[in-house]
Amino acid sequence: QKDGFRYFMEKEIYEQSLVVAETLMGRIKDNSVVLDELSHLDLSSIDAIKICACGTSYHAALSASYMFERLAKIRCNVEIASEFRYKEPLLDPKTLFIVISQSGETADTLEALKMAKQSGMSTLAICNVDNSSIVRTADMTILTRAGIEKGVASTKAFATQVVTLWLLSLFVGEAKGTIEESILQREIAALLHIPLVLKVNESVHEKIRRLSKRYLHGHGFFFIGRDLFYPLALEGALKLKEISYLHAEGYPAGEMKHGPIALADSELFTIALMPKNLLYDKMKSNVEELGARDSTLLIISPEPFELADDFIKTTPQTHMMSEFFEMMIITQLLALEISIRLGNDVDMPRNLAKSVTVE
Ligand code: M6R
Repeated sequence: QKDGFRYFMEKEIYEQSLVVAETLMGRIKDNSVVLDELSHLDLSSIDAIKICACGTSYHAALSASYMFERLAKIRCNVEIASEFRYKEPLLDPKTLFIVISQSGETADTLEALKMAKQSGMSTLAICNVDNSSIVRTADMTILTRAGIEKGVASTKAFATQVVTLWLLSLFVGEAKGTIEESILQREIAALLHIPLVLKVNESVHEKIRRLSKRYLHGHGFFFIGRDLFYPLALEGALKLKEISYLHAEGYPAGEMKHGPIALADSELFTIALMPKNLLYDKMKSNVEELGARDSTLLIISPEPFELADDFIKTTPQTHMMSEFFEMMIITQLLALEISIRLGNDVDMPRNLAKSVTVE
């Protein structure tokens, strides 16, 4: 049931606060991360992490690579499952192999998992569907608790994946003794705050609804961000193209000058993710370069930005992940409202299936 929402995707965006609270439930005790699912994992023999996934789950994996290296100080490498399968990868038993999948049935991800398992690596699935093929194949599973996701465009599953990976990076840091206690406590406090951050602000939603009419034409969108906000930019662009059929790309902001800036003119829409807690000044100069070339700028930030054509103000936050999740919701709502204005079927976009069980 849509419970009064226009589409399942909209309902699922609004559910994110609840399902992230569910995902955290029982996994933080006595100021420490508890993942009973990993009781048999010997982390002393693990010195790196490799993650494979597709689509939105791949974007969650990319965000995890920043968290594993920054928080747990463990090397982390991420690959698209369909690429990994055929590249004759070198697999090391000292590397923990993680797959991420909402459905647990994605063919390429499942096959990548089987390859890793056959090579003798320890395998862990982060999955939303218990008893799915991926869960049955992996040595260990951490279930995300997003509930059934009906919209083809993944929203709440992504939020629970990122939160689970954040938990996991703290767990690994704690188990290996590579995270400082003060940082661990800061991160735990920030994690517990996320369900609050994920409550949709109705007035922001209304603003996005009104703004969306300016973004129906033009020759394309660049979602740009840096660091953790680069995977979020990729995810924002994927949401938009899936349901609006408009051309959108996610790009690391610092890369624009290496080619894509040639596309900049007033018909190019730049959606800039500008958190205050991470590389703000670097982002600012990247965005200024685009503004100087007349790109239409939609700035998502707690700080007003002089050159902005449109500005969505986010809440001033002290932790970058609070900014991450607030901006995630904004990009999801933007895609939703543009798609609705274009008269598309938001929940069942053309050419796509919820679960991709063929390669
Ligand atoms: O079920 P999975 O997480 O393995 O699915 C992977 C992708 O097919 C999926 O994330 C797809 O990209 C979504 N439609 C994105 O919204």
